Amino acid sequence: MKVVVLGAAGGIGQALGLLLKTDLPAGTELALYDIAPVTPGVAADLSHIPTPVSVKGFSGEDPSPALVNADVVLISAGMARKPGMDRSDLFNINAGIVENLVSSCAVNCPKALIGIITNPVNTTVAIAAEVLKKKGVYDPLRLFGVTTLDVIRSSTFVAEIYDRNPKEISVPVIGGHSGITILPLLSQSGFKFSVEDAAAMTKRIQNAGTEVVEAKAGGGSATLSMGQAAAKFGLSLVRALNGEKDVIECTYVEGSGELARFFAQPVLLGKNGVEKILSYGSLSEFEQATLNDALETLKSDIKIGEEFIN
Ligand SMILES: NC(=O)c1ccc[n+]([C@@H]2O[C@H](COP(=O)([O-])OP(=O)(O)OC[C@H]3O[C@@H](n4cnc5c(N)ncnc54)[C@H](O)[C@@H]3O)[C@@H](O)[C@H]2O)c1
Repeated sequence: MKVVVLGAAGGIGQALGLLLKTDLPAGTELALYDIAPVTPGVAADLSHIPTPVSVKGFSGEDPSPALVNADVVLISAGMARKPGMDRSDLFNINAGIVENLVSSCAVNCPKALIGIITNPVNTTVAIAAEVLKKKGVYDPLRLFGVTTLDVIRSSTFVAEIYDRNPKEISVPVIGGHSGITILPLLSQSGFKFSVEDAAAMTKRIQNAGTEVVEAKAGGGSATLSMGQAAAKFGLSLVRALNGEKDVIECTYVEGSGELARFFAQPVLLGKNGVEKILSYGSLSEFEQATLNDALETLKSDIKIGEEFIN
C-alpha cells in the first residue's frame, strides 16, 4: 500500500504526515511531495519515528516520482485563507495547482483514490473530475472531497454544550465545504435542538474555519485539526482498500446528481473507493430549508470548476 501527500511541507501536510507515519498499517509506504525544498527534510524527520511505515520525501517541480504506483493520494497543496478571505478567494491560485497535480495523478497512478483537501473544495473537486475525464481515466468512485473537518468540528461543539465525550457523538454533515453549503444534521446527533439552537450551532460549525483564520491573525487557517481530519479520512480509505467492512465517512462525491453533481453525505467505502452512497435520512424542517438555500451556491461553485477546465 502506498499513500502520497501532495503539499506535504505545509501546515496541514506536516500534521497529516505525522499522523500517517504513526497510524498507517505496518508495511505501508508514505510518500511526501511539495514544491518546497524542505520536503525531503520533513520526510527524514518523520522517518526517525519508530513505526513500520517507510517515508520518502520529494520536492521540485515534478510530482511524478512521488506518485508512481500510489493507492491513495491526499492533496493539500495550495494557498490557505487569511483574515477577510472567503474560501472562493483561493480559487485563482489553487485551481491551477489542483489541475497540475491531478493531471500528474492521471498519468502516474490512474487507479488511485484521490482525496482533495485544497480549497475551495466545492470547486477543486469539480476541477479534478474534469481533468481526469479529459485524460480518460475519471472514475467517480475514486474521487473525494475531504469534508471530515466539518464532521469532527460538529462532534466537538455538540459535545461541548452537552458536556459529553466528543468521541461518542456523531453528526453527519452533508452538502459541501464552504459557508452555507456546510449542513450538519443536528437532528441526527441524538440530542434535541430547538430551531434557534440548531440555527446557532449550524452557524458556528459553518463559521468554524473563519474562527481559526481570525485567531491565527494572518498565520493561516486550520492545519492541526485539519491534519487530524485528513488522517482520519485517509486511514478510512486505507482500511477500506484493505478489505475492512463497514467503513463509512461523510465525503463530497459525485453521486446520482439529484441535488447537485457533487454532494457530501455518508458514503460506505470499499476496495474500489465508493462502495455505496448512503441515504442521509430525514431532515428537520430547519435542515431542509437550509439545504434548499445552499443548493444554488453549491451548483454555482461546481460550475466554476467545470468551466475552468472546459
Ligand atoms: N478541506 C478542508 O476542510 C480544509 C481545511 C483547512 C484548509 N484547507 C485548505 O488546504 C490547503 C492547504 O492549507 P495549509 O494550511 O496546509 O497551507 P500551507 O500554506 O501551510 O501549505 C500549503 C503547501 O502547499 C505547497 N504547494 C503550493 N503549490 C504546490 C504545488 N504545485 N505542488 C505541491 N505543493 C505545493 C506549499 O509549498 C505549501 O507547503 C489550503 O487550500 C486550505 O484552504 C482545507
